[in-house]
Amino acid sequence: MTKLKWTGFAKKSPQERIELIKTFGLLDSESQDILENQVSLPLEIANQMAENIVTELALPFAIAPDFLVNGKSYQLPMVTEEPSVVAAASFAAKLIKHSGGFKTTVHSRQMIGQVALFDVTDFEKASTHIMTQKSFLLELANQAHPSIVKRGGGARDLWIEQKEDFLIVYVSVDTKEAMGANMVNTMMEALTPSLEKLSKGQTLMAILSNYATESLVTAECTINISILSRNKEEAHHLAKKLVMASQLAQVDSYRASTHNKGIFNGIDALVMATGNDWRAIEAGAHTYASRNGQYRGLSQWSYDEATATVHGQMTLPMPIATRGGSIGLNPTVQVAHDLLGNPDAKELAGLIVSLGLAQNFAALKALTSTGIQAGHMKLQAKSLALLAGAREAEVGPLVQKLLNEKHMNLTTAESLLNSLRNAKRS
Ligand code: HMG
Repeated sequence: MTKLKWTGFAKKSPQERIELIKTFGLLDSESQDILENQVSLPLEIANQMAENIVTELALPFAIAPDFLVNGKSYQLPMVTEEPSVVAAASFAAKLIKHSGGFKTTVHSRQMIGQVALFDVTDFEKASTHIMTQKSFLLELANQAHPSIVKRGGGARDLWIEQKEDFLIVYVSVDTKEAMGANMVNTMMEALTPSLEKLSKGQTLMAILSNYATESLVTAECTINISILSRNKEEAHHLAKKLVMASQLAQVDSYRASTHNKGIFNGIDALVMATGNDWRAIEAGAHTYASRNGQYRGLSQWSYDEATATVHGQMTLPMPIATRGGSIGLNPTVQVAHDLLGNPDAKELAGLIVSLGLAQNFAALKALTSTGIQAGHMKLQAKSLALLAGAREAEVGPLVQKLLNEKHMNLTTAESLLNSLRNAKRS
């Protein structure tokens, strides 16, 4: 295989990027064909995926190259409409690679289902009755979905909590490569008649929880501060500011929200590219961010002056899937999995959390040094030029003019485009 070199990937045209991916032999022939011929989701398949379909909404599909995760280089597919997100991720990947890349830990990978019971008059008795039948109930859950047991998964544990007037029965389920929503819901519903009998209460609902605390994943990296600045003193100062930025997100919810939004710029982009349910991932992670009663930043950065390194780490629920749902239906999603080397769910979860941490690093680095506008607006200018109606050949010159403006907005872009066109005519 050709030695992979990604410098300048951003400056290539989409066609040249596809050619490069081909040269690197990163895709099988089917995925290559999908990319080359721009095969999209057939409308008849889209019509089976949701309801009342009339068309499809396309989004940009990009690649953030050369993420070193657990010693292996990955090219991460990112679906996003926002300028500077992919640039920032690529930039962070490049810098972090020089310091050894990311390390990930998958703490466990199980989903949690819950059955909420009400009208339970004796909580203690109900709990005792349910817990003495724990093995029977787990077996009952497994009988409701025998195929997952055949694949080596199934219901693993059951526990009870009393919250206000509710007796809640939780069940953890090993869903293997699937996200498992349907599987867990089927299991929970199968338990309700027995739970009602044992508790002498009534079922309010039986459903999967998106707060996947049994699917926690950690990504971390240690970065030499020399990448923050060549000047030792300035690097030291910037490292301290980076740590303060992470502390600010621990104490101020207004900042924590934006801090985490930046993290999700990366996470959502890869979750979407791989055909996963980004609402589920967002819901679980935001609940995790407020697990101690206050909404806080998901990542944390520390500075070790002795080794002149900053250490970033982030843990969050990442119940990602590589099978099921719409994953096998969308041709571009297939390309994304192929590009990643068809990882299993645990490997994919580690990549997603690493990307979130990289995105956070790029944002904090920019915020605490040049400010976000310098890098972001440079790329935002392209969107403004297109929005103003610039044709392909006009985008470059218009972006240059926009970057010299104090107030970069659509009105300015339109007026600059007009003057460009007038100058050309005269
Ligand atoms: P720079 O130093 O001007 O970049 O940074 P450079 O031109 O020196 O290029 C360095 C590398 O960056 C390139 O390496 C690429 O990997 C990448 P090369 O390929 O040349 O060997 N890169 C690009 N990749 C693709 N397309 C491009 C491109 N440009 C550079 N056009 C950069 C420029 C934008 C990377 C930097 O300023 C940055 O990271 N800024 C942060 C931007 C950001 O975080 N954007 C997210 C949107 S803002 C937001 O929603 C979140 C936020 O509110 C979150 C928070 O508050 O925490 C900020």
